[in-house]
Amino acid sequence: MNDHIRPQPGIMEIALYEGGQSHVAGVTDAVKLSSNENPFGPSDKAKEAFTRAAHKLHRYPSTDHASLRQAIGDVHGLDPARIICGVGSDEIINFLCQAYAGPKDEVVFTEHGFLMYRIYTHAAGATPVCVPERERTTDVDAILKACNKRTKLVFIANPNNPTGTMIGLAELERLAAGLPKQAMLVIDGAYAEYVEGYDGGAELATRLPNVFMTRTFSKIYGLGGLRIGWGYGPKAIIDVLNRVRGPFNLSTAQLETAEAAVRDQDWIARCRDDNTRLRAWLAEALAEKGVPSDTSTANFILARFGSEEEAAACDEFLKKDGLIVRRVAGYGLPNCLRITVGDEPSCRRVAHMIGLFKAGGAA
Ligand SMILES: Cc1ncc(COP(=O)(O)O)c(C=O)c1O
Repeated sequence: MNDHIRPQPGIMEIALYEGGQSHVAGVTDAVKLSSNENPFGPSDKAKEAFTRAAHKLHRYPSTDHASLRQAIGDVHGLDPARIICGVGSDEIINFLCQAYAGPKDEVVFTEHGFLMYRIYTHAAGATPVCVPERERTTDVDAILKACNKRTKLVFIANPNNPTGTMIGLAELERLAAGLPKQAMLVIDGAYAEYVEGYDGGAELATRLPNVFMTRTFSKIYGLGGLRIGWGYGPKAIIDVLNRVRGPFNLSTAQLETAEAAVRDQDWIARCRDDNTRLRAWLAEALAEKGVPSDTSTANFILARFGSEEEAAACDEFLKKDGLIVRRVAGYGLPNCLRITVGDEPSCRRVAHMIGLFKAGGAA
C-alpha cells in the first residue's frame, strides 16, 4: 500500500457496476431476462456484416466513422456532422461527464435513473445530485428545483431504466427551457426504438442548443455484446466530445455491423411489434397473479412485490428454475424485480413460475 499514490477525487466513491447475471449453477437451460437484451438478437444483415469484417482485421478502422454516421443520419433524418459514435452509449455518457463536469460541478439525474450517470459523475470528480421521481416517473418540477449555478448536466433516460416509464416531449421541452443557462439536458434514448412514433428527443436536440440525445445498438438492435452507441446534438458539443474520443474507439467490425443493422429497419419494426405484444401479455399475466407493474414503454417490466423479502424470495424461486431476472435494490427499488420481455416461451415460463410462487407452491 502506497499512501502517496492516490486516485483522483471521486474515484473511490464509485460502487462497482454489477451486470445482469447470466448463469445459474447446475442449470443448463437458464433463460437470461436480466439485461434488457433483444431475445431475437441482431438482424441477419448485421451478422453477415460482422462475418465479412473478419477479412479486414489487420487494417486500422475509420477514425471519423463517416459511413456509420451517414447511415444513422439517412435512417433518422439527421445531419451526420452532428453525430458521434462510441463504445456503447456508456462511452458517450462518459465523454459528456468528462468534457462538461468537474470538481465543484453538479450532475443531476433521477432517483431511479441509470447507474452509469452516477459512476461517470464521480469519475469526473463532479457531484451527483439525485432527484426524487413521482410514482416512479421523471418529475420535471423536482429536477428544475434541484438545479443551480453549479449544474452542468441533467440526465433523463426516456423511457427510463429500470422503471420503464417515460414523459412526453412537451415535458422534456419544458425541462430544457427551465434549465440554468450553463446546463445541458441529455435525453438518453437507449429504449427509444421500443416506442412507436417517438424520435428519442431527436427533434429537440436538433432545435435546442442545450439538448443532447444518446442512443444505443445494445437493446432493440440486439448488439449488446459488440458495444456500439451514438450521440446527437449541437455541432459545438459534438466538436468538444470528439476531442476526448480516442481516434480508434470503434473497430471495423463494430462500425460495419452497426451500419448494416441500422439500415435494416424491417427487423427493428418486427422486434418492436413482438416486444409490444409480449410486454402487454406479460404485464397482464403478472397482474392477474397479484404482481402489478407500471405501464412500461421499454423491453422490460418492473414487477412490484409486497416487500423486499417477497421480491428476494421470488428471485430465488425463479433462479432455481433457471430464470434469471434482475434485483433492483441498487436502484432504490428493493421490492421490485425487473424482468426483460423475452421470446414467447420465456414470457410464458416466467409468468407461470411467478404464479406458482404467489400461490405458495413449489416448482
Ligand atoms: C438507460 C440506459 N442508458 C444507457 C445504457 C447503456 O447502454 P450501452 O452502453 O450498452 O449502449 C443502458 C444499458 O442498460 C441503459 O439502460
